[in-house]
Amino acid sequence: MNIKYPKPKHIVIIMDGNGRWAVENGLTRSKGHKAGVKTLKNIIEYAVRTELNMITAYAFSQENWQRPRKEVDLLLDLFITSLQSEVDDLHKNNIKLNFIGELTKFSDKLRKTMKKSELLTCDNSGLILNVALSYSGRWDIQQALLSIINEIQSKKITIDEVNEELINSKLSLAENNDPDLFIRTGGEKRISNYLLWQLAYTEMYFTDILWPDFDSKQFSLALDWFSKRQRRFGKTSAQIENEYDT
Ligand code: FPP
Repeated sequence: MNIKYPKPKHIVIIMDGNGRWAVENGLTRSKGHKAGVKTLKNIIEYAVRTELNMITAYAFSQENWQRPRKEVDLLLDLFITSLQSEVDDLHKNNIKLNFIGELTKFSDKLRKTMKKSELLTCDNSGLILNVALSYSGRWDIQQALLSIINEIQSKKITIDEVNEELINSKLSLAENNDPDLFIRTGGEKRISNYLLWQLAYTEMYFTDILWPDFDSKQFSLALDWFSKRQRRFGKTSAQIENEYDT
């Protein structure tokens, strides 16, 4: 039985392949990242048109700090200029922007730009766009643990109160649904330290398409694939089909 499920409420994306796309097209890596921004813009437009609820895009991992300084600087500049040039459009489209990650590592200028765009868009009720910057899943779990230890030490809570719900509430995406669909472009089949806790029951979609080539057609293929998944969350098929029928 082919059960059709509703569209994913929360989609998380690893936008991989900008560098290889640039090489394949005889361009500099910088041009590859610029093309990557354009693709993200198109995917956001498609998400707004199709009334998707939430996208969390991995723009820069903690491990990305190890790239050559020149490329890191270039990416940081690109984040600032893209945000500055796109924020009004995002706002007009009723998009709510939110940044996650160890943001204290960034320059005052970038942090101010992020804060300003969060403030401008904070009352919007359309697509929620989370951008992960200097993010790592292990860092996220570590900062949640430290916050809990702190509350235990200051006697705000007791050890008995530590459960999944509490840990979840301390993580970066605490107020959001767990991701339903994970998309990674660029051919690699790994999670790369993204949202380790949150991905527990996420459907994983991998494609060889390089991020700059990931257009709305490719995106709709991923959504179609998701719609055919049977999400069991540890239950049996029979149980799920029963729940679906009633
Ligand atoms: C991975 O490709 C891509 C990145 C590290 C950067 C992704 C960033 C964007 C698409 C821009 C997002 C912009 C905003 C404003 C949020 P890669 O360089 O690892 O490619 P490769 O594996 O082919 O070398």
